[in-house]
Amino acid sequence: MTAPTELRDLAVEIAREAGELARRRRAEGVALAATKTSLADIVTEADREVEALIRARLDEARPEDGFLGEESGGGAGTSGVTWVVDPIDGTVNYAFGMPLYAVSIAAVRGTDPDDWTALAGVVYSPVVGETFSAARDEGAELDGVRLRVSEPGAAGALLATGFGYDPSTHAGDLATVGRVMPMARDLRRSGSAATDLAYVAAGRLDGYFERGLQPWDFAAGALLVREAGGVFRRPEPADVVRRLTLAGGAELVDELSRRVLPHV
Ligand code: IPD
Repeated sequence: MTAPTELRDLAVEIAREAGELARRRRAEGVALAATKTSLADIVTEADREVEALIRARLDEARPEDGFLGEESGGGAGTSGVTWVVDPIDGTVNYAFGMPLYAVSIAAVRGTDPDDWTALAGVVYSPVVGETFSAARDEGAELDGVRLRVSEPGAAGALLATGFGYDPSTHAGDLATVGRVMPMARDLRRSGSAATDLAYVAAGRLDGYFERGLQPWDFAAGALLVREAGGVFRRPEPADVVRRLTLAGGAELVDELSRRVLPHV
């Protein structure tokens, strides 16, 4: 069995190459390829090209592994390891020329996001030039510096959230924000869930909540948070549409859970 650190190192190398490609393509201009679940849910030519690069590199290095990507779907493997990939998390930021987007790559054992064991993960932010990485039981780091989740200070928690692309869900998400704000010193909305989770791992955010994430949005970030001593939780059953994701220190996640799901 390959050591998680080896999988992490491979993911870091590929994420950096992929991130540089994304950055180059952004500088050349962005072409919208399609809309997905709603008009606001877009995919660019670069999302597809970057995912193809990652998939090709993984195929070369580990032909027996499976693959699950945001843009190109899945492929079963025989090794038991699956790579879960979001080539550009924060596509709308990317399309609008904002710097906060990231390449997210995770290696997991198993295929069900509720049951899999994350072995390695990387969130690479190409414009900022930061690499957040983790290997199972080996901790999480930012460019070689060990990460630890934070605890909120007396002024309250610095929190982040995101809203899905479906306009009909915005009122509900805003009502949730209203219930959470009393515990917050302030709220951020970065547009990249993978970056939000990496920032929770780094203690730059005390906590994060969002509904409707997909496995490729959180696979790497969840491992980063856990390896940084935090809690990553999806408290509702798998059949809930737009399931809730929570991340942060243990006490903070409990409080978030009470506020977002008061009836549970
Ligand atoms: C999106 C981003 C965003 C979150 C959405 C995700 P994408 O991923 O992570 O922050 O609010 O739920 O779908 O589409 O940019 O890869």
